[in-house]
Amino acid sequence: MKWLFLNAKERLRRIATHPGYAAKVVLREVTWADERFLAQITSERVSRVRQFIDEPAHTPEFLRHIFECEKILRTTRFESADVYAKKVLIQYAIVRALRPETIVETGVANGVSSAHMLLALHKNRQGTLHSIEIGDSTYLPAGREPGWVVPDWLRGRWKFHLGDARQILPQLARELPSLDSTGMCRLKSRVPCRALWPQSNLACPITCDSAPQSAHYVREAYDSL
Ligand SMILES: C[S@@+](CC[C@H](N)C(=O)[O-])C[C@H]1O[C@@H](n2cnc3c(N)ncnc32)[C@H](O)[C@@H]1O
Repeated sequence: MKWLFLNAKERLRRIATHPGYAAKVVLREVTWADERFLAQITSERVSRVRQFIDEPAHTPEFLRHIFECEKILRTTRFESADVYAKKVLIQYAIVRALRPETIVETGVANGVSSAHMLLALHKNRQGTLHSIEIGDSTYLPAGREPGWVVPDWLRGRWKFHLGDARQILPQLARELPSLDSTGMCRLKSRVPCRALWPQSNLACPITCDSAPQSAHYVREAYDSL
């Protein structure tokens, strides 16, 4: 549970400003709702999933780097750039549990999710993360490149593709070995999942930012099977 206390001050501020939402979050935490769901979809033990979720917070080199990045990100006020968000730890735990060979990510921005997934691949000692980013600087602090949060020592397993995912995904789909139950296709909102879907298997999990908007694309992907 170390991760929960990393930005205690900010979490308390959010509880005060969004008490209804905070109550739901607390309920999820005390009932281990996320951990039980992840255990179910990855066929891993709940206790192991809990260990995975806390792992980045117990990786000193990574944690030191994230602390430094957070100081810079604090100036941007973008929710998606929350380096301590549980959603990135959920992605981390999925990668640790499923040990995918290939992950495809669309939309990198600062690279908070990318950094966590790459740490998971590093711990797994296997796998590659393909990240596609169109290069929009809206989400970035001044003077920073997309993915700047990813530390140099994690870039060995990273293939960064600069461009529009709508063009790059179909090319990548032709080049990559087919994604199967050990593969993981991480597709974000605003990009049609269908581009990669024909080569994927339903056992390939997708995590999405902004679930309500993404639901449309996920549904489209299922319908296209
Ligand atoms: C919400 S941010 C992603 C946040 C990131 N996953 C993180 O954890 O910090 C969305 C990103 O998607 C990128 N994007 C939007 N449309 C895109 C497209 N068609 N192809 C590639 N990237 C795209 C934007 O430039 C932006 O950087």
